[in-house]
Amino acid sequence: MITKFTNSGPLKLGEPLIKLDTVNSTNTYASDLLKNTNPPQGTVILTGFQTGGKGQGGNKWLSERNMNLLFSLILRPDFIKADKQFYLSMCISNGIAAMVGNIAGDSQIKWPNDILLNGRKVAGILIENTVMADMLHSTVAGIGLNVNQEKFGPELQDAVSLKMVTGREYNIDILLEELLEHLSTALGPLYNGIYAEIRTTYLNRLYRLNEWARFTDKNGSFDGRITDIADSGEIMVGRRDGRITEYGFKEIRF
Ligand code: BTN
Repeated sequence: MITKFTNSGPLKLGEPLIKLDTVNSTNTYASDLLKNTNPPQGTVILTGFQTGGKGQGGNKWLSERNMNLLFSLILRPDFIKADKQFYLSMCISNGIAAMVGNIAGDSQIKWPNDILLNGRKVAGILIENTVMADMLHSTVAGIGLNVNQEKFGPELQDAVSLKMVTGREYNIDILLEELLEHLSTALGPLYNGIYAEIRTTYLNRLYRLNEWARFTDKNGSFDGRITDIADSGEIMVGRRDGRITEYGFKEIRF
């Protein structure tokens, strides 16, 4: 059990810890718990295998049995305005990137929330929020971190695991403890209302920030560079002629 004390009280992550051999998706399981029971903030659902692992944008999340860290964390961030929900997503990215960085060297965040190691994807995050009036009500933060898996299918050619980079084998239960510690720290500024710190930490690790690169939007490809991230979570991309455009998820590729 991890406890961090914030102005608004202790933030405990990993209590209770629900361990399942197999489940369709830890995110679905967590959402069902929220619908049918009253799980406390900090509840974690951990599994060794998902039969219907969900990724962003309706994609599947594929992971060999017992090789990787697959879990969902339940939070109740009911003090956050719905239009600031990307700050929560940034905190989760910041926590994972810090932990991966500690273990395996430089890690980056590819907008909106892919975690990269040596330029390849080592972790993905699927956040599912419920909103009440204009405030967040509950959050399921689903995290898949590639740990000991060494081969990925042809559709996952940009995937990498901790083991592929460091050559070491990891105990997944210990990694979960470490990651919850990092997440608790990364969520601290959110629970204390220090939004600027969250954004700075995120931008410091942002892949391709201020670097000229090829981007593709619905009108074709162009030379651009990421200049900033809007409060709403949209990415701001500047062009050579000085124009800056904001894009939502799936509206741009790079
Ligand atoms: C992505 O597409 O990058 C997000 C992947 C998120 C995968 C994790 S694995 C644990 C949790 N349960 C799911 O079904 N998805 C998330």
